[in-house]
Amino acid sequence: MDYSLLWLDWKPKEVLPAYTKCITGMPATRQGKAALRELVSGLQAMGAEPEVRCGQASSVPSIHLKEYLGKDDKVTLRRSGDGMELAGSGTSLLYGVFHLLRHLAMGEEFPQWESAPAYPIRMLDHWDNADGSIERGYAGLSFFFRDGKPVCTERTRDYARLLASCGLNGCCINNVNVHGNALKLLTGSYKRELKRIALCLAEYGVSLWLCVSFSAPMELGGLDTADPLDGEVKRWWKETCLHLFTAIPNLAGFLIKADSEGRPGPHTYGRTQAEGANMLADAVSPFGGKILWRCFVYNCTQDWRDTKTDRARAQCDHFAPLDGQFRDNVYLQIKNGPVDFQIREPVSPLLGRLEHTASLLEFQIAQEYTGQQRHVCYLIPMFREILDFRFHSRPERDRTADRISAVCAVSNTGNDYNWTGHDLAAANLFGFGLISWDPAADPAEIAREWSILTFGDDPAVTETVTGILLPSREVYEKYSSPLGIGWMCVPETHYGPSPEGFEFDRWGTYIRANHREIGVERGPEGTGFTEQYSPELAAMYRGVASCPEELLLFFHRLPYDYRMKDGRTLLQRIYDDHFEGYEEAAAMSEAWDKLADKLEPEVFRRVQERFREQLRCAAEWRDVVNTWLYRLTMIPDEKGRRIYP
Ligand code: GCU
Repeated sequence: MDYSLLWLDWKPKEVLPAYTKCITGMPATRQGKAALRELVSGLQAMGAEPEVRCGQASSVPSIHLKEYLGKDDKVTLRRSGDGMELAGSGTSLLYGVFHLLRHLAMGEEFPQWESAPAYPIRMLDHWDNADGSIERGYAGLSFFFRDGKPVCTERTRDYARLLASCGLNGCCINNVNVHGNALKLLTGSYKRELKRIALCLAEYGVSLWLCVSFSAPMELGGLDTADPLDGEVKRWWKETCLHLFTAIPNLAGFLIKADSEGRPGPHTYGRTQAEGANMLADAVSPFGGKILWRCFVYNCTQDWRDTKTDRARAQCDHFAPLDGQFRDNVYLQIKNGPVDFQIREPVSPLLGRLEHTASLLEFQIAQEYTGQQRHVCYLIPMFREILDFRFHSRPERDRTADRISAVCAVSNTGNDYNWTGHDLAAANLFGFGLISWDPAADPAEIAREWSILTFGDDPAVTETVTGILLPSREVYEKYSSPLGIGWMCVPETHYGPSPEGFEFDRWGTYIRANHREIGVERGPEGTGFTEQYSPELAAMYRGVASCPEELLLFFHRLPYDYRMKDGRTLLQRIYDDHFEGYEEAAAMSEAWDKLADKLEPEVFRRVQERFREQLRCAAEWRDVVNTWLYRLTMIPDEKGRRIYP
């Protein structure tokens, strides 16, 4: 095997409860049988030798698996005398078995659990290309595609196990930017391979999704239009879906990036986003299929001289007026912030605006703008903040978590030995699963659990690893782009500092710094973005004094001598953050070094190497941003630290 099993590498336990010696019950479905298999092999790895008495009651303490028929995801794990009873549908048994194993690994004797996932769709979006490369991939090549074709290997199965073990139930295997051979996934050219992948995933309750190109009727069908209202186009999609859904069991539907960053879409034909999405929704609906329609629609050919257009406004401007016009099997897929996965953005106002349309919240665990899996950046506290955010809309549906119908994340995996490039980045994969199941899950508890499952239960290791993970997002934020302004990274690669790299480009991502002021004004006097929120939130963001300080430069253009709440000037705060951020990263790296004799040498070394790169790059961020601001303003650091005049 040329990859690790991550948190599924169960460690031997000195003591296990008596009931782990016997398993009763006879699951009938493929998922139920997989659950039984996982339970047996998991317990064996922990050191138990369970006897499996299929279907028989047992007089000795045992784990009884009670399978219900149906698709209900509810799971009950409860103590029954000196044993445990686990009840649910086949897929729920899997969730229950993994829950039990995880908690036994953490030393709990009778882990009780009665739960159901918050959302029916909890999935990962892979940006994998057919040639095996991964767009914004930081962990090697794709394990879904090789040599232009989809492949199903042993790793696909272990991937499905990993997903089920943290409650995820879907994955879209190809890049939203569909090109090359990936176009042909639609026409059934790779039917056999896709079917194998679909069946392999299905065993673990994971549905397969595909990204498709809106102009496929032209690219593949030889039509001269992809107009969603054209009869031939509709017929082409219907026939294509008939063939595809019949050939591939477990295909859940399509994800589409339309009218976005050069991709074709309904706007090309003067049609609305709803007309485009609904046409596809009608084509997949006979097969129970769903359409995930991305809202990442903005003008990506902006002239930097144009100060009226604001990319942050685009999602609401395009989609809020269409609320209620989408079919029931369409989900609007909305990135968590209004721009693009920066280290700090406000929650997308569109999530607060849709009352009659299903929405799917899109996170990114691929660390595109957050250190590219070379820097440690545990994102689950940020996801929790976003899910807890209150829109001041309808009281019974106020928090993001209560407004959305589904959740996904751009995946951080690849074919690297450790799946995620940085060993500590696997915490984001695990954590995303747990928080998708239960948006009220505690990020600190998730980090603790992940650390114990991954590195064993030595308290010193757990303390150090969680001590590194929990503050890591703020640390990255401090030494990179300040106070929500974003976009100070190198264009194209999106790694490392280049404060004005995007300044004269076409992407709508401007900082507009001069020697007196910095930022884009997004209040009513500026682009008016603040007014896309409810009146309460608009008032809060509009006011410079009431705006949360960590987002100050997202919403406002301010002079460098603006006084922060603690009396420091804005500029001094930025200098301080950059010096402190580096120091804190260095402290994390030193803490890791102390684990040298407590971890597998390979794991220790891999992470140590990543820390070296993180510190190199953090120093670069600190010095470039501070020097750039100093040269613009000629205002020195009050503490006289090193800046390069
Ligand atoms: C970012 C990213 C692109 C990606 C796009 C998207 O802009 O850099 O590589 O295609 O997001 O989400 O579609």
